[in-house]
Amino acid sequence: MKVLIVGGGGREHALAWKCASSARVSEVLVAPGNAGTAAEPRVRNVEVAAEDLAGLTRLAAAERVALTIIGPEAPLVAGAVDAFTAAGLRCFGPTQAAARLEGSKAFAKSFLGRHGIPTARSATFTRERFDPAWLRAQPTPLVVKASGLAAGKGVVIAAAHDEALATVEGMFAGQFGSAGHEVVIEEFLAGQEASFIVMADGVHILPLATSQDHKRRDDGDRGPNTGGMGAYSPAPVITASLHARILREVIEPTIRGLAAEGLPYTGFLYAGLMIAPDGTPNVLEYNCRLGDPETQPILMRLQSDLTVLCEAALDQRLDGERAHWDPRAALGVVMAAAGYPESVRKGDVIEGLERAAQLPGKIFHAGTRLAAGRVLTNGGRVLCAVGLGTDVAAAQRQAYALADCVHWAGAHYRRDIGYRAVQREGGGP
Ligand code: AMP
Ligand code: GLY
Repeated sequence: MKVLIVGGGGREHALAWKCASSARVSEVLVAPGNAGTAAEPRVRNVEVAAEDLAGLTRLAAAERVALTIIGPEAPLVAGAVDAFTAAGLRCFGPTQAAARLEGSKAFAKSFLGRHGIPTARSATFTRERFDPAWLRAQPTPLVVKASGLAAGKGVVIAAAHDEALATVEGMFAGQFGSAGHEVVIEEFLAGQEASFIVMADGVHILPLATSQDHKRRDDGDRGPNTGGMGAYSPAPVITASLHARILREVIEPTIRGLAAEGLPYTGFLYAGLMIAPDGTPNVLEYNCRLGDPETQPILMRLQSDLTVLCEAALDQRLDGERAHWDPRAALGVVMAAAGYPESVRKGDVIEGLERAAQLPGKIFHAGTRLAAGRVLTNGGRVLCAVGLGTDVAAAQRQAYALADCVHWAGAHYRRDIGYRAVQREGGGP
């Protein structure tokens, strides 16, 4: 069978690599892919943009693609799965209506409320309805969120009322385009952040291996928020009892609630959580897709055939499937371009990839492109070096050995990915 992966980041390189390893798969197409997918055996890049729904369905029909997996949120929120289904094509992901869980934080908050799923108290406003006096009466810090998709930049934690007000006004004034027409204002929650990713088939749930990412750019979890500077799996913060509690209090009511509202959810579902000191798993956000970079270490550990799991989900048979995991830990270090996440420099020549290819582990590409046989930087997050090991510390050593082989002008990566898990393993604090 032929598989189509939509997207061009590190997550999509990992998806393409994983699907190409299946004995059932003859070829994987990636639209549009990157320099890493271009070099992968049995993988072919196709110049179709991830948001070009008509182009994607035409490609899948012309190439007789048996299974499409959509990587990023934008095409899902734009209705990619509906377009494929209307064309009689099999596509793994939520419908446009179900993807509103990510596409509209206003919808997600009202959904959470309707189904009694733990989350921060909040209120949603349009410009017409907004009352600054209400905001000034709320305790600080306040969390201000553009309701729509804002590429991970639409959340501001405001320490004081003036900052919160200015943020709200900026969003209403169009700072995030139409994503800021509605604004969610919510209470600040303290605790430990965790992410939880499952596959769903509308009814049944298959949890993926646990993972944890590092959202801040700099060591010690400091500096600006990013899409993610590294991730590891498993995540010791998700203990067995917390795992059970997240399924019971968050994931199961979400899938049940969506089905009850006539929006059965098929696809990957990612819950971003803040675990309160008493263990309550509060939902900060839903994503209707896999995480990036969480996918890279997760898929390094997946021993089952991902195409089999996706097809079972499309047939609503996920209850008959199990996912088998490499018991080793995997850890990915994101290597970013100069200026990330603010203004990113592109076009720097990447050296050392051949040497890295001789080492154990795997480098997934994200923002890269080929030009005259050379690999150039082409985005903020450029590469993700993933190591495997008997524990997170060993996986971390392998990942950094890989990353340290590779160079370009202005390359930046954190030196401490996984430090909390490594401390736990060492019996430290
Ligand atoms: P989101 O895109 O909604 O997950 O928000 C991005 C980041 O902002 C999260 O990963 C958290 O670090 C932080 N955040 C979001 N909502 C809250 C909240 N209610 N309390 C504290 N931190 C939050
Ligand atoms: N790494 C966080 C995300 O994919 O949303």
